Amino acid sequence: MKLIPVKDYDEMSRVGAEEILELVKENPKAVLGLATGSTPTGLYRNLIEDHKTNKTSYKEVTTFNLDEYIGLDGDHPQSYRFFMNEQLFHAIDIPEHQTHIPNGMAEDMDEECQRYEALIKEKGGIDLQLLGIGVNGHIGFNEPGTPFDSRTHVVPLTESTREANSRFFNSMDEVPTHAVTMGIQTILEAKKIVLLASGASKQEAMRRLLLEGQSTDFPASSLKNHPNVVIIADQEALKGTGFEGSEVKEI
Ligand code: PGA
Repeated sequence: MKLIPVKDYDEMSRVGAEEILELVKENPKAVLGLATGSTPTGLYRNLIEDHKTNKTSYKEVTTFNLDEYIGLDGDHPQSYRFFMNEQLFHAIDIPEHQTHIPNGMAEDMDEECQRYEALIKEKGGIDLQLLGIGVNGHIGFNEPGTPFDSRTHVVPLTESTREANSRFFNSMDEVPTHAVTMGIQTILEAKKIVLLASGASKQEAMRRLLLEGQSTDFPASSLKNHPNVVIIADQEALKGTGFEGSEVKEI
């Protein structure tokens, strides 16, 4: 894994955006794996800014998102489809039919999981997968204990996740109980993985990722099996790991 230490959230967002821009300029038909959450929004703002000023085009790009809530349709403000439309897709020139997110409204979720896997294969696989990291090391909705060979699957949300998310809904009853996520193996099949981490809340996750071995207790440690991982982490997130500073390192 290559670690790129950066100063702060803004620099992480800029350097992360450069990884994507470099790929899209070299291959206008790139297949991007995208993520939701507060971590990548700054990176998306950089892509939008670049699209406006430098006219980088996404007309032939295909995207696959990591996950989606079950039971929310794309018009629901808490759905990840809504998030992606607002944060990126509607501000660049990507045709909506080339943007893929698991369908959390599908009648048969097993079939939906298989469809999603097959579609990724049909498009030639993901060239670059963007990831955030959970405080507990989750990637996508793959929580601790998820097998490293898992593929797109349905996961029950933990009560603490539901409670944390309940502030965005009118009542606890409206908070989804399940989500659908790419599996760890699905993520590992991406040709390149770019993981972003910013802020003090990610210190423990960075410490475990950079200093400890592999364990299903810590899903992000599965990335150690992958030949092309870039971690872009800011000084706050790296505090206490021994990797603070500015030197790029292979770990
Ligand atoms: P965050 O979430 O970007 O909102 O911190 C990251 C994650 O849980 O994967």
